[in-house]
Amino acid sequence: MCGIVGYVGEQSALDVVMGGLARLEYRGYDSAGVAIRNDSGDLTVVRRAGKLGNLRAALEETDPAELSGTLGIGHTRWATHGAPNDRNAHPHVDCTGAVAVVHNGTLENFTELREGLEHRGHTLSSDTDTEAVAHLIEERYDGDLADAVRSVCRELDGSFVLVVTHRDEPDVVVGARRNLPLVIGLGEGENFLASDVTAFIAHTREARVVDQDQVVVLRRDGVTVTDLDGDPVRGEQFHVDWDTAAAEKAGYEYFMLKEIDEQPEAVRETIGGRIDSHGRLRLDELAMSDEDVQGLTQVIIVGCGSAYHSGLVGKHAIERWARLPVHVEIASEFRYRDPVLDPHTLVVAISQSGETADTLEAVRHARRQRAWVLAVSNTVGSSIARESDATFYTRGGPEIAVASTKAVMTQLVAMYLVGLHLAQVRGYRDGDEVRSHFRDLSHTPDLVTEVLGRMDPVRKLAREIAGQERVLFLGRHVGYPMALEGALKLKELAYVSAEGFPAGEIKHGPIALIEKGTCVVVLAPRHALTSKLVTNVQEIRARGARTIVIATDGDESVTPHADDLIRIPDTKSLLSPLLTIVPMQILAAEFAMARGLDIDQPRNLAKSVTVE
Ligand code: F6R
Repeated sequence: MCGIVGYVGEQSALDVVMGGLARLEYRGYDSAGVAIRNDSGDLTVVRRAGKLGNLRAALEETDPAELSGTLGIGHTRWATHGAPNDRNAHPHVDCTGAVAVVHNGTLENFTELREGLEHRGHTLSSDTDTEAVAHLIEERYDGDLADAVRSVCRELDGSFVLVVTHRDEPDVVVGARRNLPLVIGLGEGENFLASDVTAFIAHTREARVVDQDQVVVLRRDGVTVTDLDGDPVRGEQFHVDWDTAAAEKAGYEYFMLKEIDEQPEAVRETIGGRIDSHGRLRLDELAMSDEDVQGLTQVIIVGCGSAYHSGLVGKHAIERWARLPVHVEIASEFRYRDPVLDPHTLVVAISQSGETADTLEAVRHARRQRAWVLAVSNTVGSSIARESDATFYTRGGPEIAVASTKAVMTQLVAMYLVGLHLAQVRGYRDGDEVRSHFRDLSHTPDLVTEVLGRMDPVRKLAREIAGQERVLFLGRHVGYPMALEGALKLKELAYVSAEGFPAGEIKHGPIALIEKGTCVVVLAPRHALTSKLVTNVQEIRARGARTIVIATDGDESVTPHADDLIRIPDTKSLLSPLLTIVPMQILAAEFAMARGLDIDQPRNLAKSVTVE
C-alpha cells in the first residue's frame, strides 16, 4: 500500500515522479504529493487529498520555477495513521523544511517517538507516523543524510519504506526498507527508487531489489547500498522484460477492461514452453527432487481474496489428479491456528503482488516449520518470491486495476500445472493422461477469446440490473470458488452486497435472502453435478429469484430455469473456471460503470495490501 518514487538525474524530476506516481496509483489513492529540489536550492512540497488529479491541479497553480529541478520524491497514499486529508498527505517535512520524507508502512512505536519529539520541542503538524521520521532525521543530521537515515531506522519498529531528501544534498536521495518493497531502477546518468518497477520501466529496464534493513544512496552517477551499520552490501541486478505498453491503457477507458481482454495472452504465456522433447510436462520452478515430491503427504495453499479463490480451484485439481490431500487457507488466518506442517508438506503461497503482508507472514511461518514453500506470484523479485524456497512466476504482465482479473486467470493456470506436475511425478497419471489434460489446458486461451467475443449481452444485462443492491452467486464443485470470486468482484467494484454460496448449501439458510426479483448468478457449466444444480435453481426461482445462468453450449438441462442465459464453450469441467470467470468480470465491471463508479480504483482499497 502506498506508492513511492524517488528520482535523481537529468530530466525534469516533476515529470518523472508524476509519471511514476500515475503508474503506482493503484497502490493507494487517498492523497498524493511531491517534493522537488528546485534549481534555486529549495525544497518545494505540494500535496493534496484525493486522487492524483487533485495533485496535478495543485501543481498547475504552482509557480513553475519552484518545481523545476532534477531531483524529487513522490507518494500516493493509502491511509493508515490519520485521515486522508491535505495535512496528512506525504511528503512530510521537519521543523526547518530541509528534510522531506515519504513513507509506506506503519511504525509501531510511533506514539513513543512522537511524544519524545514533542518533549524535545518539535512541532508536528500532521497525525501521521511518517512525520516523526522527518523530525528524527532533522535531529540526527550532521552533514550526511544516509547516516542520519540509518541511525533513525535503527530506532523504528514496524514496517517501512522511506525515501528521503535533504535541501543541502542536491544530488542525493536516500531510501530504506523493512518488510515492504523497494526497487532501484538503474539508468544512465539517472537513477530511480520505487515501490515497484512499473514506476520506472519507461526509463530503464535494469533493476535491483533492496533487501531487508538496507539503505540506498541514490546519486545521478551511481547507487550504493549498505546495511544499517553502513557496511556495503551486494545485490543482484535483474532485467525487467515487461512491455511498457502493458502498463498503459492503450485506448481503453479503464485498465481493468484492458486486462480482461489480455487474458487469453496471459494464459498462453503462463502455459508456454512446458512440454519437453520427451513429451513430459516441465515445472522446474518447483525445484523439488522427484523423490521429495513422491514423499509429500499434503499440500497447503494460502492466499487472500481472489488468490484464495484460485487456491480453492487448485485443491480440486491437485486432489483429483495427484491424489494428495490439499487444504486451502486464508493467509491471514493460517499462522494463528498453529497448522500442522513438516518437511513433507508443500505450501503453495499465491500472491499476484508478492507483497501481501498476510501471505508473506504465512510463508515465513511455513518455512520456520520446515515445509517446502512454492510462491505463485506475478511480480519478479517480490518479497514473497524471495522468501519462498521456489517461485512459479505467472506471466500475466503488470496488473494495474485494483480488482484482479488476468492475474487470477494465470493463478488458476498455475494451479492446474502444479496439479498435473505432481500427478506425473507421483505416478498417479500416466504420461498420456497428463498430456491429454495439458492439451485441454492449451486450448483454453482460444476458448477465453471466444467467451470475450460473446460478452455484449452480458454488458446489456449488467446495465439492466445495475440498480440491484444485492446479488447472489451459486456454484458447485469448482463453480463454488468461482461464485465467491464473482461476488467479490461485484462487491469491490459496485459496493453492493454480493455473496457466493455452494448451491447445495442455500437451503440451509441463505435461501431466506431470496425475494421477488433477487438476482442470482448460477454457475452451471456442464458437470456431473449439473442435474443437482438444476434442482437448486428451481428452488430459488420458485421463490421469485431472477436466475442468470452461465451454462455450456448445447446443454439444455438448465435452460428452462434461466431468466437470462450466458453461454460458454464446452471444456472439461475442471477447467471451466477459466471460462466462467470472464462473464462475471464483465458483469461486475459494467454493473459498476453503470453506477458511475471508477472500476480501476474502487473506494477504500489498494492493490497491494502490505498491512496485516
Ligand atoms: C480482488 C483482489 C484481492 C487480491 C488480494 C491478494 O480483486 O484483487 O482480493 O486478490 O488482495 O492480493 P495478492 O494476490 O497481491 O496477494
